Amino acid sequence: MFQKPGSLSKAAFGVKFDGQQQQQHHGTAAAAAEPAAKRPKNGLPVESVRRELLYLVESHATVVVVGETGCGKTTQIPRFLHEAGWTADGYQVVCTQPRRVAAVSIAQRVADEMGVAVGTTVGYGVRFEDASNQATTRIKYVTDGLLLREMMDDPLLTKYSVIMVDEAHERSLATDTLLGLLKKVQRRRPDLRLVISSATLEVDRLVAFFDSSTVRGKAAAAAAAGGGGAPSRTPAVVSIPGRVYPVQVHYLLDNCSDYVQAAVQTVVDIHREDVPGDVLVFLTGQEEVESAVRMLDEEARRLARSRLQYKLMAAPMYAGLPGAQQRLALEPAARGVRKVVVATNIAETSLTIEGIVYVVDCCFVKQRAYNPIVGLESLLVAPTSKASCMQRAGRAGRVRPGHAFRLCTEESWQQLLPKASVPEMQRSDLAGLLLQLKALGIDNIMRFDWLAPPPAEAAVRGLELLHALGALDGDAKLTPSTGTLLAELPLEPQLGAALLAAATRFGCCQELLTLAGMLSVPAVWASPAAVGGKRALEEAKAKFAAAEGDLVAFLNVHRAWLEHGKSHRWSSRNGIHQHGMLRAAEVSQQLCRKLKRMGLDTNSSCEGDVDKVLKAVTAGLFMNAAQFDHTEYDPRASSDAGSNVYRLLRHMQPGRPLKLRIHASSVLARTRPQLLLFLRCQQNDEGWYEMQAVTAVEPDWLTELAPGVFQKL
Ligand code: CDP
Ligand code: MG
Repeated sequence: MFQKPGSLSKAAFGVKFDGQQQQQHHGTAAAAAEPAAKRPKNGLPVESVRRELLYLVESHATVVVVGETGCGKTTQIPRFLHEAGWTADGYQVVCTQPRRVAAVSIAQRVADEMGVAVGTTVGYGVRFEDASNQATTRIKYVTDGLLLREMMDDPLLTKYSVIMVDEAHERSLATDTLLGLLKKVQRRRPDLRLVISSATLEVDRLVAFFDSSTVRGKAAAAAAAGGGGAPSRTPAVVSIPGRVYPVQVHYLLDNCSDYVQAAVQTVVDIHREDVPGDVLVFLTGQEEVESAVRMLDEEARRLARSRLQYKLMAAPMYAGLPGAQQRLALEPAARGVRKVVVATNIAETSLTIEGIVYVVDCCFVKQRAYNPIVGLESLLVAPTSKASCMQRAGRAGRVRPGHAFRLCTEESWQQLLPKASVPEMQRSDLAGLLLQLKALGIDNIMRFDWLAPPPAEAAVRGLELLHALGALDGDAKLTPSTGTLLAELPLEPQLGAALLAAATRFGCCQELLTLAGMLSVPAVWASPAAVGGKRALEEAKAKFAAAEGDLVAFLNVHRAWLEHGKSHRWSSRNGIHQHGMLRAAEVSQQLCRKLKRMGLDTNSSCEGDVDKVLKAVTAGLFMNAAQFDHTEYDPRASSDAGSNVYRLLRHMQPGRPLKLRIHASSVLARTRPQLLLFLRCQQNDEGWYEMQAVTAVEPDWLTELAPGVFQKL
């Protein structure tokens, strides 16, 4: 394991970097000669290939575009296509993004550049949020997952003339799937054009995948020979000449034990040098980002007294951050201010932050991991890949020559980081994806034309889950009662199944709609920083806590929030994240409309009969049942460590059972229900699976609601 070893003695602190700096170039050396500049909009490198690109899109079914991050692919190419007439006759140009934040912020940027409001000519669509207009929107940015969903209503995606699949090299689950589906669509729609943007690493694979000139044999050959101007079936590749500056990479002399602290210290050291340039710090998650921002704020206060030329200003950037605060990170800082953007890996490729000269990289990333033996997905902080570190470093070389500080030794970096990241398909729960593919008529997923096929074991686990939920029948076909409805709901299958059960069996649709909303937004509780520390947040949570667990606590929060007129003031006084609550309410309403369109009655409410809610939840989450492990129970243990041990109920065999425990954020963190269900889990660096959104349930419910999985306990 990549180390976060030993503890730093105070004296050794001060984050010593290697004096022998490693030179590393990104892009061409010639680029270094160019003047540092605030690049005018029309001076982006992508401009130089505009004509070539448009010509190739005209004449080729698929065009693969390669270019450095920041050269203008995402913001400019859809616009070129629009201006060249691809959006005539009511057609739209759509561009997919693996990340929701990117889709929203890029649409905003392009709308600004074109002098229009978002939602008019330029729009976006992400799960639960549509800022586009069928009549007026010509350029649309969407998440890859959303385009996949659109295919359920319109399998040939007929409203789009060009589909740009951006960041294909990231190999997200939805993008990989989309590429396979788009290849099929292309065969039926010769008028459709694909533009795929990718880093160099994946270009050959993409070109080979979309090259159907040999596969289609005679028909294609005839077309290529001049049959009626049909586009070439061999993908064209456009390389955008780079314009980036060299970045010097620095490594630590000794590995650090706490990369958040080391990152803060590095920023302070950079700041003390007192030369201009903003800093971008990469950490792994919201909590780390917020704690680093807090530490930097403190440092900034201290440094304000020194006679430095610049003021230090830290700005967080992560997926769940409200838009207004995201803008703080994205917009240029005021004069005399050094902006330090502390971000998760969303700032790695999809977002461009101007003015960055220094990058501080913790070299870790939080990502999905999948255990195919038990079929459990979790979030895990792991060393990132060398490719991603290089990408991160490259963010420092956009304005002038820059510096990247990696918070580990060069030896660790060389030895412990994988070359490239593992595609998401290889490390995800596939149930939701398989459900959607089934709904699109793709029955045999192992025979589907994948860019790279998913692991057979994960596919089997996914199908098992869908079976258990009643979504598939004995022939692995979608069941009309559950499967088709579930596929239409934009929720994880298990949560979707709980919602359907609430609507159709348990008479508590309103409650489950509320929960589905609250569980679908990044955060409902305020961050510890916002309420004055972890303790304060725990106390705030305690007011809503319920013996049944987090989900009932959520319902308590929601009820109180309504009783106080959804007041912002009340929320901030009670440790509630107002923005999250508003989003959750919006999501609930959308799900409600969806259920109504499916012909379901959405009005039922259990009127405080919590068991009904918990039974509906059980009907969806039963696969995630965990039982308290008495063998590990030590009554003398004063801390939770010895007593908070659970086993996955459907995987109780001896051997190497999963180590489960309740995550500290749960309202049940201090109690030990015998049997519980969890919605998500995250793995810590000691290998514990920490369960989140936890709810106590009765053993009888499991045997009653999932008899195929659980016999009498
Ligand atoms: O997609 P690619 O990485 O090639 O670049 P882009 O996202 O189209 O960004 C092109 C340029 O627009 C960047 O170099 C930035 O100068 C600018 N940009 C910005 O300033 N603010 C944004 N939110 C997005 C882009
Ligand atoms: Mg881009």
